[in-house]
Amino acid sequence: MKNYFIDTHSHIDMIEEFSVETIIKKANENDVKKIIIPSADESSFEPILKICEKYENVFCMLGVFPQEVRKWNDKTAENIINLAKNNKKVVGIGEIGLDYYWDTSFINLQKEVFIKQIEIANELKLPIAVHDREAHKDTFDIITKYNKGSDVLLHCFSGSVEFARECVKAGFYLALGGVVTFKNAKKMKEVAIDMPLERLMLETDAPYLTPVPHRGKTNEPKYIPLIAQEIANLRSINVEEVAKITSENAEKVFKI
Ligand code: NI
Repeated sequence: MKNYFIDTHSHIDMIEEFSVETIIKKANENDVKKIIIPSADESSFEPILKICEKYENVFCMLGVFPQEVRKWNDKTAENIINLAKNNKKVVGIGEIGLDYYWDTSFINLQKEVFIKQIEIANELKLPIAVHDREAHKDTFDIITKYNKGSDVLLHCFSGSVEFARECVKAGFYLALGGVVTFKNAKKMKEVAIDMPLERLMLETDAPYLTPVPHRGKTNEPKYIPLIAQEIANLRSINVEEVAKITSENAEKVFKI
């Protein structure tokens, strides 16, 4: 029985309050045994890879976040491919996708770079971790049209039950985080009950979206058990089952 958790999306490089060493130690003490760090832009690749080099059970994804795509250039693709090919700790391409919440003035560029990064993942045979904020339809359409063979994880899933069903049907995995513990997050609780466990993964998206009862504090991987427990309560199952299946899913998709 796998009675440990995996945080599939944690920006531990961006947590200023504690050292990486402390964060990982506390995660371990709370049975969070593996952590995957996504990148936001090219400048984060090197520091993230350094963390992965130092800690055995920390892995990473390389990619450019939708709000950072104006920094994309031809060398970025080359850089991602070279680093991924030469480093076993690179287990995915992420976080990539579409964000129509913050700034919608460069949507076409977001789409273009999203497609380019899907193609890179396909070439490298790596999964993609997708950020979709208020862009459900375009995100879904681009993935189903352009993705050729990479596993898909929609990180910090924020759609309806109907959209979750559509994604599951398309073979995607969904990651749920701290939002599921929020009292008013009715939609997310419905998704947590409805979706098959075989398609679910856990994430903190630290330092953001801290779960109840720690809202207002900095989020960290050590809080994953609170998210798992909430999902277990909603589904009326044991937290061990959530740990086991979500860890198996992450290990299969990211080969960790
Ligand atoms: Ni993120």
